Amino acid sequence: MFQLSTDHSDKSVIGVGAHRACYIHPEDPAKCIKVIYNSSGTALKEIKRELSYYRFLNSYLTDWSGITRYYGTVETNLGTGYVYDRIVDFDGKPSQTISERYKIEELKDNWKELDEIISKLKKYMWDNRIITTALRPHNVLCHRVSETEIIPVICDSMGVTTRIPVAQYCPWLCHRKQKKLFARFDGLPLIQKVYQYKNQQE
Ligand SMILES: Nc1ncnc2c1ncn2[C@@H]1O[C@H](COP(=O)(O)OP(=O)(O)OP(=O)(O)O)[C@@H](O)[C@H]1O
Ligand SMILES: [Mg+2]
Repeated sequence: MFQLSTDHSDKSVIGVGAHRACYIHPEDPAKCIKVIYNSSGTALKEIKRELSYYRFLNSYLTDWSGITRYYGTVETNLGTGYVYDRIVDFDGKPSQTISERYKIEELKDNWKELDEIISKLKKYMWDNRIITTALRPHNVLCHRVSETEIIPVICDSMGVTTRIPVAQYCPWLCHRKQKKLFARFDGLPLIQKVYQYKNQQE
């Protein structure tokens, strides 16, 4: 059984979402363990949906560069732990999420970088038919694989919310769902700002 800290400011804690806390795996720093710390609402249901989606991805996905792989469960003092790849930059720093790395008031200097990440993210999802329940900047990590290259990696909210996940099986429905996801993502203030800078330049 793994002992994890209840203190979210501990250095073993990588990030804390609304329901899950994410820890560096005590025996393998290339992996992380997520535990539910706030079980109110739908946390367990969401994990079950995500894991069922991972089972589906395992049946066809070959390019895993844009999502964190899932390795199964472990026992922890804080209940069931779910093990995933831990995303770390080429220089050893923890990868930041889009919302951590890009701030609307500082976008003037790095909007091109974010614009490229958005294009890569959409292309990866489209080509590999990846569906998320929502596409949010705090659930996409900016994996810096070299000084100049960043690969977006989705770390949360994967899967389909409908009882029968038809969008998983039908490429046409999947792409229709993705168009809606992308449109909502493009409407977020941070992303709108990127497009404003882009339009000014053109
Ligand atoms: N595989 C990973 N590698 C590195 N950091 C990660 C990874 N997964 C999650 N994180 C970090 O931990 C945070 C919380 O994890 P996660 O998004 O899974 O929790 P959550 O409670 O499901 O989030 P939400 O509030 O979006 O529902 C993320 O925002 C991110 O900063
Ligand atoms: Mg999250």
